Amino acid sequence: MSATGSLQGANAPRVGSAVHAVTSVGAILEIRGLTAGYGGAAIIEAIDMDVAPNEVRIIVGPNGAGKSTLLKSVLSMTTRLAGTIRFKGQDITGLPTPALVPLGIAAVPQTRNVFPSLSVAENLDVGTYAAPRADARRMLERVFELFPDLKAKRKQAAGELSGGQRQMVALGRALMSDPALLLLDEPTAGLSPVYLERIFDLILDIRQTGVTVVMVEQNARQALRIADVGTVLVGGRHYISGHGQALLANDDVRRSFLGGGVAA
Ligand SMILES: Nc1ncnc2c1ncn2[C@@H]1O[C@H](COP(=O)(O)OP(=O)(O)OP(=O)(O)O)[C@@H](O)[C@H]1O
Ligand SMILES: [Mg+2]
Repeated sequence: MSATGSLQGANAPRVGSAVHAVTSVGAILEIRGLTAGYGGAAIIEAIDMDVAPNEVRIIVGPNGAGKSTLLKSVLSMTTRLAGTIRFKGQDITGLPTPALVPLGIAAVPQTRNVFPSLSVAENLDVGTYAAPRADARRMLERVFELFPDLKAKRKQAAGELSGGQRQMVALGRALMSDPALLLLDEPTAGLSPVYLERIFDLILDIRQTGVTVVMVEQNARQALRIADVGTVLVGGRHYISGHGQALLANDDVRRSFLGGGVAA
C-alpha cells in the first residue's frame, strides 16, 4: 500500500499550530531511508521521518507494523540494513545504545519495567546514572513537579504501585537523564481510561518543558488528538503522516486504522 493524499509530504498544512513544522528544517530527529530488522530480515523499510524540536509525534499502525522496531532502531537495538539517523544534526547511526543517553535521548520501551523492590525514589535515581550528577537534584524536583503522586509515594516500593503509577515511575526515570528527545512505546498499554488521559496530559506537560516526544500508541484515536504530527506505519512502511487532527478527519485513515482504535 502506498500513501496518497494531501496529508503526506513535507508541506502538509498545520492546524492550530504555527510552531511545529513538519518540514525537515531544524529537525531534532532525522531518519533517512531506514531499513532495519532482526538478523538479516528487514521489518521496517525505507523509512524517512523528520521530527521537529518540541513536537509530539505519535506513531500508530496495526500490530506487527514495525512501530516498536522503528523506535528500537533509533536506539541501535536492531540490525540496520540501510539508512541514517541524525539527532540534533549529529549522525548517531549505529552508536551504541548507552552512548545515546548522554546525548539527550531517553526511552521507555514497550516491555518497560520498574524495579519492584526498590522505592520510587530509588527507581528514579537509576535514571540519573547517565546524567551529570550535579543535575540529579534539579531533575528530581522537576519529575516530582510533573508527578506529584510520585512525590507522595517516593519511599514506597515501586512493586506496590498501580499500573498507572508504575508507568509514571518509568516515565519519570526516563526524564531524570534530562533528555531532549523522549521515545515512548505504548505508555498507556493496559491502563484504565482515566490513567490514559492522565498520561496524555503528562506528555503535553513534558513537552511544555522543552522535550520532544516520539510515541508509539495503540489508542490511536485519543493519541492523535494530542499529536502535532501523526505517522501511520503499515507493513513496515510509512503509509501517511500529517497533523493529528487532520489524520483523524481523513476518511481513509479513519476507515482503515481507527475503527476500534486498533487496526486490523
Ligand atoms: N526481537 C525480534 N526478533 C525477530 N523478529 C521480531 C523481533 N521483534 C519483533 N519482531 C517482528 O517484527 C515485526 C514487527 O514487530 P514490532 O514489534 O516492531 O511491531 P509493532 O508495530 O510494535 O507491533 P505491536 O503493535 O504488536 O507492538 C513482527 O513481525 C515481529 O514478529
Ligand atoms: Mg510494539
